[in-house]
Formats: sequence, C-alpha cells, structure tokens
Amino acid sequence: MNNNYFTEIFETPFETAKAVAAKFNELTCKYIKEKDIVNSALSGGKTPELFFDVLSNDYFNISYPEKINFYWVDERCVPPESSESNFGEAYRKMFSRFPSVKNLYRIKGEDNPEVAAENYADLLKKNLPIKNGIPVFDIICLGLGDDGHTASIFPGNDELLTTDKICAVSLNPYNGQKRITLTVEVINNAHNIIFFVTGKNKAETVRDILMKKNNYEKLPASHINPSEGNLYWYLDSDAASLIDINYFKNLRIQNSNEDTCM
Ligand code: 6PG
Repeated sequence: MNNNYFTEIFETPFETAKAVAAKFNELTCKYIKEKDIVNSALSGGKTPELFFDVLSNDYFNISYPEKINFYWVDERCVPPESSESNFGEAYRKMFSRFPSVKNLYRIKGEDNPEVAAENYADLLKKNLPIKNGIPVFDIICLGLGDDGHTASIFPGNDELLTTDKICAVSLNPYNGQKRITLTVEVINNAHNIIFFVTGKNKAETVRDILMKKNNYEKLPASHINPSEGNLYWYLDSDAASLIDINYFKNLRIQNSNEDTCM
C-alpha cells in the first residue's frame, strides 16, 4: 500500500464524521494559507449528512468557508429542489445556514444530461488549476455504495474507469435514473481524496477493496488510487469490521479509551 494511503477507524459514525470534518478543515486551512483558496468536491447520499453537520457547526465559524470553492463529485439528473439532489440536500442541510459561503458550483441536474456534463467539464477546466493536463481538486470527498460504486460510477461502467473525459453521464442501474459524475481520471488527479464510509452493510465491500480480495477490481471504488495525492479512508467500526488491521501500514484506530497508531 502506498505511503500516501491512510486508514482511520472510529467507534461510531459520529466520531468518524468528526474526524473527517477535522481533516477537511486541516486541509482547507493548509491550502488557504498557501494560495488563499481551496477547491473541494462533495459527494451525496446519506453518509455525508453527519459530516455536513459537524463541518458547518464546528468549523464554519472559525475557519474561512468563504475561501472554499465547493464543487460536486456527482449529481442526480433532477432539479435542486428535489430531495434526490446532492447539491439541494447539501444546501438545505448546511449552506443555507451560512450565507457567507457563496462559492457553490453545482452540476445542473435539471439540464439535458449530456449538456450538463459538458458544461461542468468546461467550468472545471476554466476554474481549476491544471495538473497532468486535467483539472486538479485540492480535496475530493467520496462515499461508497455497498455494491462498490463511488461518485456515480457503478459496477459495469468500465468506460468511466479509463475515459479521458472529465465528466460523464451514467445510469443508476437500480432505478434507471440518469446521473452526471466526475470520472476516475479527474478524481485520481486530486491532491487529497477522503472516503467516509459507515455501516455494517459496507463491511464486505470495504474489506474487498482495501485488502484486494474477491474480484475487487470489479468494484469501481477500487480504482480510486491517486498517483501523487493522499488517499484517506475514514471508517466506523462497523464498516471496518471485516478488515485485518495487520494488513495496513498507515492505520489509526481510535476507540473510546485509546488511540492506536499501527
Ligand atoms: C450519490 C453519491 C454516492 C454515495 C454512495 C453512498 O450521489 O449517491 O455520490 O456515490 O456516496 O451511494 O451513499 P450513502 O452514503 O447513502 O450510503
């Protein structure tokens, strides 16, 4: 495992969310100090809700959220008013309470999907620095589906694992809903990638990806391997319950009474 890969395990989803928010804040302060701005991308789904709570309640008053550009990793092809909208949910749960945080660059889920993907790619090429010929994020926050999807890259979307496109249209195979997603190439180009995963239902997938077991390459999240950036896996004890802790080099296990670094 690369030296720039880190696995951290916490007792509860809330403790894990606190650690993710602390890392996000640590990184944003680092980049704000270096270049007075930070480019981040958020994922959707249920898991980030705790992260949004902790980040906004504990850090938006003490750090510089107005200097953070918030982009999105993926979006469902719905309008922002929809409860399905990743931007909409983040806005209603977090950003709506902090009017000073204005740098929100949502994917326009209400537009024609191909057009929205093209337009978002153009926006990223215009706004972000370029590294290896493609836009580079400072921080990308990812979740993990129990089927091994991440962003909106689902098992079977093999073209999204290798395409040189920055954004693409994908299909949720479970309900046929169209989505727009960053591709693996632009995710792996990031300086920092943070996975935040909780729950027993993800334990087998986490084990297969992190310990490279059981046809793990078929799991899109196993292709998230930044060549130069840092990769952080933040797991609660349920999601980490099937991994062999001796397998990891950079592993930190924080439980109620101790903090063990392996
Ligand atoms: C989305 C997310 C997706 C999510 C996983 C995990 O648009 O749904 O970007 O990749 O991170 O599906 O979702 P949960 O956190 O709800 O388990």
